[in-house]
Amino acid sequence: MFTKTLVAILGLALIVGAVPPKKATCSKGRKASDQRCCVWFDVLDDIQENLFDGGECGEEVHESLRLTFHDAISFSPKMFREGKFGGGGADGSIMAFAEVETHFDASVGLDEIVGEQKPFALAHKVSFGDFIQFAGAVGVSNCVGGPHLQFLAGRSNHSQVSPDGLIPLPTDSVDTILARFADAGFSASEVVDLLASHTVAAQDHIDPDIHGSPFDSTPSEFDAQFFVETLLKGVAFPGNGSHSGEVLSPYPGELRLQSDALLARDPRTACEWQSFISNHDLMVQRFTKAMAKMAVLGNDPRTLYDCSEVIPVPKPAASKVAHLPAGKTLKDIEHACKATPFPTIKADPGPETSIPVVPAS
Ligand code: HEM
Ligand SMILES: *[C@@H]1O[C@H](CO)[C@@H](O)[C@H](O)[C@H]1NC(C)=O
Ligand SMILES: *[C@@H]1O[C@H](CO)[C@@H](O)[C@H](O)[C@H]1NC(C)=O
Repeated sequence: MFTKTLVAILGLALIVGAVPPKKATCSKGRKASDQRCCVWFDVLDDIQENLFDGGECGEEVHESLRLTFHDAISFSPKMFREGKFGGGGADGSIMAFAEVETHFDASVGLDEIVGEQKPFALAHKVSFGDFIQFAGAVGVSNCVGGPHLQFLAGRSNHSQVSPDGLIPLPTDSVDTILARFADAGFSASEVVDLLASHTVAAQDHIDPDIHGSPFDSTPSEFDAQFFVETLLKGVAFPGNGSHSGEVLSPYPGELRLQSDALLARDPRTACEWQSFISNHDLMVQRFTKAMAKMAVLGNDPRTLYDCSEVIPVPKPAASKVAHLPAGKTLKDIEHACKATPFPTIKADPGPETSIPVVPAS
């Protein structure tokens, strides 16, 4: 009887303890369901103007999106089980310990965006871990057809330097990549879901001679072109010969990562890969879900609070189905999903989307 009463009292205390967040009107009259989210409207204005060139889906956005991954994926339950420190996940350690972590092989080039982002995080007094995930979510919302990612705030600003070797490399085998992601809690399909990010991506460091060469023909659009173009027969190297982590690409000016080429064709991942080609909504939905999981790695989500309302809603995609780039036919596709026929897609709809971007070096 006594215990029952105690349980009831404790239960009541818990309910009373869960005070609903305080609503607030933030700068420029914008409403937040939780006053702690107000600061993010100010960060939003600042980075859209001063980091993302007025709300573009350009280089800084691409790098910011990549950074969300390289901060978060350094999280290994396997290492913890072995009694070692397995990294803190999405904890901002790549910014707090940039001098160590941006020198990891897998993170070559990220010192630049970390250096650009850090003053914004300091100026607005937000944690590095929160800032990195926020900048990625805002950034990708600038891409046409992009996702409206969840943004939870409240990560601790304290972190430890991550161990090296936890971030996948383009030279890794599919076995190695899938094992690393499985350790962090992701299925083979979720690896593919996360790789939708490579639709708004380019490389600088695989072949430095062709700085800025994209992974698909539309690097400013969050479309499914990446998933089609990686399945085209490789015909040539876009730059000066072949480099480690690179395989033959279908197009001048477009670079294909070895890891993307292998994942597109592996029986464990090929069907998820192909499924996005004619289904933009599915791609965005799966990416959004997998990103929400990645953004809180190493954190207890119950200690975080939802500020997703600050993230802008992206412009809708012009087309929900990808197309074959100019000069290519279905014969050039290396169909890899045994379970499902290759989807019916049209040839390139017009010159404005047909040119692969060949950037000036
Ligand atoms: C198998 C896993 C992955 C591998 C091996 C990989 C590898 C790479 C490599 C080598 C680059 C080029 C970097 C450079 O030369 O500048 C790159 C770029 C990029 N990656 Fe990944 N990546 C993987 C997964 C992811 C994930 C999960 C995300 C985000 C959710 C992501 C986002 C990006 C973005 C946005 C870029 C473009 C950066 C820019 O344009 O500056 N990648 N990736
Ligand atoms: C976060 O930690 C860094 C040191 O790693 C420090 O410079 C910065 O001021 C801290 N930010 C906040 C909001 O406490
Ligand atoms: C291509 O790469 C080779 C080997 O690294 C180098 O010797 C040569 O100068 C490069 N050519 C150009 C045009 O950059």
